[in-house]
Amino acid sequence: MAGWFLLWSLLLAFACMADAEFCLASYFADHMVLQKEPAQAMIWGHGDVGAFVKVTIFQGSNIISWKIGQVEGDTGTWNIILSPMNPGGPYKIVAEQYFRREVKNVTLQDVLFGDVWLCGGQSNMEMTVLQVMNAKKELSEVELYPRIRVFTASLVQAEAELEDLAKIDLQWSVPTAENIGHGNFTYFSAVCWIFGRYLYDRLQYPIGLVESCWGGTPIEAWSSSRALEMCGLSNTYNSYLFDILTYGPTDYSVLWNAMIHPLLKMTIKGAIWYQGEANVQLHNDLYNCTFPAMIEDWRRAFHEGSQGQTDENFPFGFVQLSTYRREETSDCYPQMRWHQTDDYGYVPNPKMKNTFMAVAMDLCDENSPYDSIHPRYKREVARRLSLGARAIAYGEKDVIFQGPFPKKITIMKTDASIKITYDQKLLQNLVNTTIFEVCCSSQLNKVGFNATEWLPTAIISKTPYSVTVSFNGLCKGQITGLRYAWKDWPCEYKNCPIYNSEALLPAPPFTFHFHITLH
Ligand SMILES: *[C@@H]1O[C@H](CO)[C@@H](O)[C@H](O)[C@H]1NC(C)=O
Ligand SMILES: *[C@@H]1O[C@H](CO)[C@@H](O)[C@H](O)[C@H]1NC(C)=O
Ligand SMILES: *[C@@H]1O[C@H](CO)[C@@H](O)[C@H](O)[C@H]1NC(C)=O
Ligand SMILES: *[C@@H]1O[C@H](CO)[C@@H](O)[C@H](O)[C@H]1NC(C)=O
Ligand SMILES: *[C@@H]1O[C@H](CO)[C@@H](O)[C@H](O)[C@H]1NC(C)=O
Repeated sequence: MAGWFLLWSLLLAFACMADAEFCLASYFADHMVLQKEPAQAMIWGHGDVGAFVKVTIFQGSNIISWKIGQVEGDTGTWNIILSPMNPGGPYKIVAEQYFRREVKNVTLQDVLFGDVWLCGGQSNMEMTVLQVMNAKKELSEVELYPRIRVFTASLVQAEAELEDLAKIDLQWSVPTAENIGHGNFTYFSAVCWIFGRYLYDRLQYPIGLVESCWGGTPIEAWSSSRALEMCGLSNTYNSYLFDILTYGPTDYSVLWNAMIHPLLKMTIKGAIWYQGEANVQLHNDLYNCTFPAMIEDWRRAFHEGSQGQTDENFPFGFVQLSTYRREETSDCYPQMRWHQTDDYGYVPNPKMKNTFMAVAMDLCDENSPYDSIHPRYKREVARRLSLGARAIAYGEKDVIFQGPFPKKITIMKTDASIKITYDQKLLQNLVNTTIFEVCCSSQLNKVGFNATEWLPTAIISKTPYSVTVSFNGLCKGQITGLRYAWKDWPCEYKNCPIYNSEALLPAPPFTFHFHITLH
């Protein structure tokens, strides 16, 4: 019986498009959140070609506003941009089609206006509230947030751009412990949910969270061919073989096609993104292009798709990779973290405007039952992201949302030391650390001339704004670089050597290259 019912409801969903029945696109449903002012939400659906469509917003039985559109000939679709709405609700939205004396209608109940955030990426975004630290407590608090609404797209790939979602895992819902803690890597995303909670606590108006992510997927799958071409990748089958941890589709653009393109007509406030692990071994050296290119492309596409309602420069937040293997010595992870910032080390920067980043290299979780690549400390990830959103997306002036970053590096040849001066007051825990390294072109402690090598330095002094390290006895000839936290697993849990003194945000990793000839 259940099987038949499922089949029947799926057929109904698809019948709408095929027979030009009057309907809304898949992701318009009761309990949804539509984007509030100053942007205007777009509603769209299918209908009889030539028919007029009227969309009315009711509060109780009062008409708040109405708009009229028409079903377009070539596509059989209609789009209506609603009037700008203050945050709040619930509202009822009625869409009516007038066609040859026949009136059809669809009604959405319990619709709220607020900010809609898209949550994308791979398995660290997919990881559900059930899987994270303090899951019980997190789940027990879910029902305190009935004005956050959640939605999850199904895992679908497609070879061509889809106009609507092919399938939905979680239709717009009022959050409950069941749908927020549904299962492992299904729904609902812990980072997305807790991010939404932090925003709600601050803003006190409705938040809509749209999860569209898939574990083990590289950025190429989420990027349009336009974005990939910007980085010299042609839109072809990607034959790269992944290791056993990877389980999502890897072909170029297939998730852009099926899980992002269908959402472009949804007016959104911004997006958050937790992805990169699948690119550590795949086109790592291109991520400094593919990531900024994807962000710009999504921005343009959402702006155009919503007929200008989604900001063409919408805020985009992301998580810098956490840790994977404690003993790993290759620099693939640090390289990836660096490329996530387009090689600046921090965001926003001139190439990644209106972005914000949660540094997560100190949130390691060696004993995670889901493998150390999936740390369970997602609340802190979401907290750090929410600080970025408050500063960048909501323009709060006094929010500290970045960890300390060097603003000046002074090399003192006479006493063989380097002074690193930061842009913020530091909270330091510098006991015995080898986290700063210098790149020497030749070394004193080895016979003969050697190729360049990174060597750990000793910390010799500090002030509230600076750290001084020594390369005395290490290098001769030339120094060609300085780097910090350049390891897969640079620190223990919340125990990096340098944090911001107030917001407890870790200093992000950096690598700088220069040429200083000694003596
Ligand atoms: C929608 O159509 C149904 C019949 O299909 C009708 O009973 C109902 O009153 C209509 N609702 C509105 C708001 O027009
Ligand atoms: C999720 O994974 C954990 C750890 O492997 C397991 O104990 C639990 O039963 C799983 N839960 C579900 C709902 O599959
Ligand atoms: C991106 O990083 C690679 C090294 O991984 C470097 O060779 C390349 O120049 C960088 N690209 C840009 C545009 O900076
Ligand atoms: C510093 O490291 C050395 C060698 O690893 C160790 O013997 C010493 O106890 C450490 N000192 C502190 C203060 O941790
Ligand atoms: C250079 O350093 C590497 C790594 O420490 C070492 O294996 C190699 O033997 C050195 N080569 C020379 C010529 O000293």
